Amino acid sequence: MIIQKERGKVVTSTPSPREKFKMVAKTMVSLEEVLADELRALGAENVEVLTRAVEFEGDMRLLYRANYCCRTALAILKPFAEFEANNDQELYDQVYKIRWEKMLDVDGTFMIDSTTSGEVFTHSYYAALKTKDAIVDRFRRNFGKRPSIDTDQPNYKLNLHIRDNHVTLLMNSSGDSLHKRGYRQGVGVAPINEVLAAGLLKLAGWTQAIKQSSNQAIINFYDPMCGSGTMLIEAAMMANCIPAQYYRGNNFGFMRWKEFNLGEWKSVKAEEDRKIGSIDFEGEIWGNDIDEQVIQQCERNLEYTKLHHDVMLHIGDFVDQEPPEGRTLIVTNPPYGERIKVEDLNAMYEKLGDTFKQKYGKDCDVWLITSDFEAMKHIGLHPSKKIPVQNGSLDCRFLHFELYEGSKKAKYAE
Ligand SMILES: C[S@@+](CC[C@H](N)C(=O)[O-])C[C@H]1O[C@@H](n2cnc3c(N)ncnc32)[C@H](O)[C@@H]1O
Repeated sequence: MIIQKERGKVVTSTPSPREKFKMVAKTMVSLEEVLADELRALGAENVEVLTRAVEFEGDMRLLYRANYCCRTALAILKPFAEFEANNDQELYDQVYKIRWEKMLDVDGTFMIDSTTSGEVFTHSYYAALKTKDAIVDRFRRNFGKRPSIDTDQPNYKLNLHIRDNHVTLLMNSSGDSLHKRGYRQGVGVAPINEVLAAGLLKLAGWTQAIKQSSNQAIINFYDPMCGSGTMLIEAAMMANCIPAQYYRGNNFGFMRWKEFNLGEWKSVKAEEDRKIGSIDFEGEIWGNDIDEQVIQQCERNLEYTKLHHDVMLHIGDFVDQEPPEGRTLIVTNPPYGERIKVEDLNAMYEKLGDTFKQKYGKDCDVWLITSDFEAMKHIGLHPSKKIPVQNGSLDCRFLHFELYEGSKKAKYAE
């Protein structure tokens, strides 16, 4: 069912499975363009980049595919009502008018996530409460009973978005956030979000590197501080064309919708699963960490994903570890001193810079994410790119260092 605004009114219609509708994919700061590229590659139309989101059009198959395949999306939302409301009563009245019984069973469950901005609705929780009241009051009046709230696995996870007096209601087709890939068997103290890890790899050019690697210009991947291995697993999944949610199981919000079509879902999944291993990736993927326990967790994650034959792990200080021979992309997430305490973070970043210059050399393309802007200066190399990104609540920069011949030779000549 699609419910759309038509001259201020809320109307409903039931689309055919191939009918196209608007969707919104949510993402993180600076990942909008890479997500737009991913969506275009999956067949999305009228793709438009927004702030931390991408709007696009497609049918139900694309909704299933985007959920299964997008590495840099946090959620795929389907807008279904849009109207204006200037106060609580208008919000209640407009929500009440929606024919909720068309999508939601009276014995079904729902929950509402809300965000508000502007001066009309200043409390998002209160706006969500009004919306919930209108839905349950409509059911009570018509059926004498009402659907329940389930904040864990509801049939419909609704998203209420209010900007000034403009209200949009969307269905979250993903359910749990898409960063929950389902492959984590163990984590270190500060694992990076999977969507962020995939986004950083894409910003660093790993997608192109994989393609080149299959054309004999072999490019390797190395994370010298790999922790529980998120970068390594995302890199290896990309190299093997393993869909982003391959390990997630049947855990998508759309599967609990009334209009869920199991046959269409199975066919989309089978199409994407057939692509696994379709690229002849010849490079090596290496990880290293100083903490033996964390490396054991990384091994467990790799074994679970069956990617343990694709990734080589080392235990030790990054300063002692050479990267793989030949052209290598290095993307790493060192401690920032927030969750992992380091005695002297500035000295550690200085060591990192020295290692880049002396051990890595011109065959390596180095990228690093950090939130410590002071320690960053101690790397002693000028980044050629500084991309603002967000790691949880931390404002970070993703830095690119281009290395040149000379410094490595100079070190070994000493
Ligand atoms: C922020 S965590 C990396 C988390 C990782 N991206 C993940 O998703 O699990 C930083 C890692 O750097 C490692 N580390 C700290 N100092 C190191 C050193 N000198 N050499 C190698 N690894 C080091 C820590 O053990 C920790 O696992």
